[in-house]
Amino acid sequence: QPGALRDGYGRVARDLRVSVTDRCNLRCTYCMPAEGLPWMAKPEMLTDDEMVRLIGIFVGLGVSQIRFTGGEPLLRRSLVDVVRRVAALEPRPSLAITTNGIGLDRLAAPLAQAGLDRVNVSLDTVDPQTFKRLTLRDRFADVEAGLKAAADAGLTPVKVNAVAMRDVNDTAVADLLQWCLDRGYELRFIEQMPLDAQHAWEREQMVTAAEIRERLGERFTLTPLPDNDRGSAPAERFLIDGGPATVGVIASVSAPFCGACDRTRLTADGQVRNCLFARGESDLRGLLRGGATDEQIAAAITGEMAAKLAGHGIDDPSFVQPDRPMSSIGG
Ligand code: GTP
Ligand code: 5AD
Ligand code: SF4
Repeated sequence: QPGALRDGYGRVARDLRVSVTDRCNLRCTYCMPAEGLPWMAKPEMLTDDEMVRLIGIFVGLGVSQIRFTGGEPLLRRSLVDVVRRVAALEPRPSLAITTNGIGLDRLAAPLAQAGLDRVNVSLDTVDPQTFKRLTLRDRFADVEAGLKAAADAGLTPVKVNAVAMRDVNDTAVADLLQWCLDRGYELRFIEQMPLDAQHAWEREQMVTAAEIRERLGERFTLTPLPDNDRGSAPAERFLIDGGPATVGVIASVSAPFCGACDRTRLTADGQVRNCLFARGESDLRGLLRGGATDEQIAAAITGEMAAKLAGHGIDDPSFVQPDRPMSSIGG
């Protein structure tokens, strides 16, 4: 339709992922160094008013799903308020959050009250020792409590995202699945992508979707759901032991879903990115603070989306990792 965020390959962006902070309270070794990263300065970050205005412009351009990400989005103090204001936009977008779960025990109910629909929690292991080794923080119990609070608050289906990692959790994928099944959470495994701040990712080290399926197959019978149930969702899903429970595998690297991508991104400092792996971005904050009209900002967004590439090109010899790490793009 006119005004939609269509790119040069005919894909239409309907899903906006908004990073509300680049800070995090964990230090997952595959994401950032132990000492953290040079965080954005406050004046560089969008204010609530600026963020809500920009989201409103995206909604006017046909975006119908907003996902708040980080860093760790729950670290933004005003998040409940931002959710309430975005839920009041017309037409009302569906609202989700991707979080590490810390603080959700306290925030799940207020967020649901404010209009949040769903939550995805990142959890790579259910062994407290491994959790501490991986995240450098002893907070497994907080995540466990957060997940429970999310389910109790009706933020369902509660999804759990797990990045599969060699020598960390690759041999424990079935344990993680059993733990999620026992609690009614929908688990999805993710292939690790080259987005770490340390640039340590290696293709040969990556645990592939095929390997994850094989490991799970040692304990469960997996039956693939038809691909037409998938739409633009990144996960290939399987019925477990005949169902109804399912498990998903997100093969971002070995079987990219870029051809069906319906995503766009807004960073905490107000840049629009047309892809996780985009080499460039457009400065909406500068326009906004320079007094631009909604129409001028919408034109900048449309222009950036028109420049979206066909795919991430991780396997191309010319591939270059984006300058921004995952923690400042938002997963
Ligand atoms: P649902 O709407 O619940 O399906 O959420 P989602 O899977 O879109 O979002 P989530 O934030 O839970 O992302 C899960 C994982 O998918 C992330 O950890 C990323 O690794 C991966 N992912 C998210 N967005 C993209 C993307 O645009 N491209 C690629 N290649 N991977 C992505
Ligand atoms: N590859 C794939 N997923 C990643 N995540 C963080 N870094 C990577 C990466 N390099 C995941 C987190 C969380 C989501 C926001 O992105 O574990 O689930
Ligand atoms: Fe979309 Fe880029 Fe992610 Fe591919 S890598 S699915 S094009 S955002």
